[in-house]
Amino acid sequence: MKSDAAPCVIVTGAGQGFGRATALELASVRGCSVLAVSRNANALASLAAEAAAQGRVEVLALDLTAANAGERLKAAVGARNIDALVLNHGQLLNKPFAQITRAELQELFTANVFSCVTVVQALLGGLSSGHVVTIGSMGGFQDSTKYPGLSSYSASKAALACLSQCLATEFASTGPKVNCLCLGSVDTAMLRAAFPGYASPTTPATMGAFIARFALEGHRVFNGQVLPVAVSNP
Ligand SMILES: NC(=O)c1ccc[n+]([C@@H]2O[C@H](COP(=O)([O-])OP(=O)(O)OC[C@H]3O[C@@H](n4cnc5c(N)ncnc54)[C@H](OP(=O)(O)O)[C@@H]3O)[C@@H](O)[C@H]2O)c1
Repeated sequence: MKSDAAPCVIVTGAGQGFGRATALELASVRGCSVLAVSRNANALASLAAEAAAQGRVEVLALDLTAANAGERLKAAVGARNIDALVLNHGQLLNKPFAQITRAELQELFTANVFSCVTVVQALLGGLSSGHVVTIGSMGGFQDSTKYPGLSSYSASKAALACLSQCLATEFASTGPKVNCLCLGSVDTAMLRAAFPGYASPTTPATMGAFIARFALEGHRVFNGQVLPVAVSNP
C-alpha cells in the first residue's frame, strides 16, 4: 500500500463516535488507505459502505483487549508500512471512587492503556517512519479540572499520555513519532455517559477532521507532546 506513496492509516475505535468521523475524513484524502478497527462488525460495515464513495476503508472487527489482538492486527496489516496509527479506542467508567472494584479497574486499564501497548508492539515493524497519535482526555491532562466519578478513567488517560511521551523518547532514533491529544468534550455516546445532560459544542465531524489532519501532518512539528485540544470545560 505504501509503495505508491499513498498514506496508509489505522484508526482504532472507528465504529462510532469521532473515531468513525476520523476514519471517514482520512478516507476522503486522495489515495489514503484506512484500516478501521473496533468490535462491532455492523458498525464497521456501515462505515465501509459510507466511505466507499470517498476512498478505501478496510475494516477489522477486533476486541483490542483480546489475548490474540496483537497477532490478529499484525496479520491484517501484513507487510504494509503505516503512516499513521490513531489509537482512539477507549472505554469509560463513571462511578464513585469508593465503589470501583479491582475487576472494573483492571478492565478499564486493559482497554485504555494495556491494549495500546499491545497494538504498538504488534505494529512497530511497519511504523518506523510513521506517527502514533494516542487519544487522551483533558481529564488526564496535568492540572486540568477533575470530576467526581471519573477518577479511574482520568487516571487511565493520564497513564496513556505519559506512555506516549516515554515511547517518543524510546523511539527517538528509530521512529515512529508519538504524540498524545488530550481532548475536551465531543458530542458522542461516551460524553453523554460521562456528563448526562451536558451538550458539547464540539461535533464528532469537527474533531474527526482535526485528528485526521494531525495524524497525517502533526509529526512534522511535534514529537513526545501531550497537547490539550479543548474549547470547553468539560
Ligand atoms: N467524547 C469525548 O468527549 C471524549 C473526550 C476526551 C477523550 N475521549 C476519548 O476519545 C476516544 C473516542 O471517544 P468517543 O467519545 O468517540 O467514544 P465512543 O463513542 O464510545 O467510541 C469508542 C470507540 O472505541 C471502540 N472500542 C471500545 N473498546 C474497544 C475495544 N476493546 N477494542 C476495540 N474497539 C473498542 C468502540 O467500538 P466498539 O464498541 O464497536 O468496539 C467505539 O468505536 C476514547 O478513547 C475516549 O476515551 C472522548
